[in-house]
Amino acid sequence: MTTRRDFLRATAGAGAALGMVPVKGLEGFPAVRLQRVTPVAVASGNGLAAVSRTIEVVQQGGDTLDAAIQGVNIVERDPDDTSVGYGGLPNLDGVVQLDSSVMHGPTRGAGAVASLEGVKTPSLVARDVMRYTNHVLLVGPGAKEFARSMGYPIENLLTEESRRRWVEWRARLSDRDDYLTPEQSIHGATGFRSEASYGDALLDSHDGVRPQGTINCNVVNADGDLSGVTTTSGLAWKIPGRVGDSPIVGAGLYVDNDVGAAGSTGRGESVIKTVGGHTVVEMMRGGMSPTDACLEALKRIVTFTVEPYLLDEEGRPNFGVNYYAINKKGEFGGAAIFAGARFAVSVDGDTRLEDSAYLFERD
Ligand code: GLY
Repeated sequence: MTTRRDFLRATAGAGAALGMVPVKGLEGFPAVRLQRVTPVAVASGNGLAAVSRTIEVVQQGGDTLDAAIQGVNIVERDPDDTSVGYGGLPNLDGVVQLDSSVMHGPTRGAGAVASLEGVKTPSLVARDVMRYTNHVLLVGPGAKEFARSMGYPIENLLTEESRRRWVEWRARLSDRDDYLTPEQSIHGATGFRSEASYGDALLDSHDGVRPQGTINCNVVNADGDLSGVTTTSGLAWKIPGRVGDSPIVGAGLYVDNDVGAAGSTGRGESVIKTVGGHTVVEMMRGGMSPTDACLEALKRIVTFTVEPYLLDEEGRPNFGVNYYAINKKGEFGGAAIFAGARFAVSVDGDTRLEDSAYLFERD
């Protein structure tokens, strides 16, 4: 019979064959450390400030998860990012419901919250689920009560802008209800903008009309330790209680400290069905580069997309999904279903946007 100790010894041997060195004090465990790597953080295109902050914290010796969370906190607290945290676009009822997951590579930790209301920084609550409970995922009122118990203020997350966009959406939903659009009103109603003028917020939309954004951020430090976080307000105008991929460990985020970290933005349902983050990490475990692993996982989404309402006239998905990945050696990449996406990276003192690899040109 193979004992856990035998198994761990055997896998530690495999690590050595890959040029890894055992961590002092953990002999007999598979925890292996690569020779020094150059710290790198990657994130979705809305994460330039986030990757910069993440690397800053890592360079100062901070923990990889604390670093990535400090990075995404900038976006969660930004009222002008309508896809994440405070100012995120609300659900059908005008209520902001947030999703987030975190994974800490060195301790194999995971925590998540879904449909969380009233807390600007769901990533911090997800980390508290990991640190202070023996659960992985808390949802809805339970997540909110947990956050309250941990000292988070419960606040109104709707900004004037996100409320105005929800009011506009509600008025345009049907011509058989009692809500008036500015064009219908003769009493001087103003201020609605067309969805088409919201620019970047539409980049991740899954039907070209409903905005859908998210931030995923992954990091590796000089020791080869990895962490990741994904946080979002999810699909705008969603059915209350809808949960996307972001708080689902293995879908919107996955980290294996022996291999790499990966996360996603875009249409969450498609990522969940193909266990996207885990798929990318497993591809990297098999030897693929981060970019190729992201592309391979996207091909799986294409295969799984058979619903006519999700296909364009050429039979391709009519929505966007993006993956971002980093491996234990500090190699990184990003890929999207369609050309034109970019991802943020911070490495070697340089923080920039890079073009994502892609499966299809846009028409
Ligand atoms: N990827 C974010 C969501 O679908 O909610």
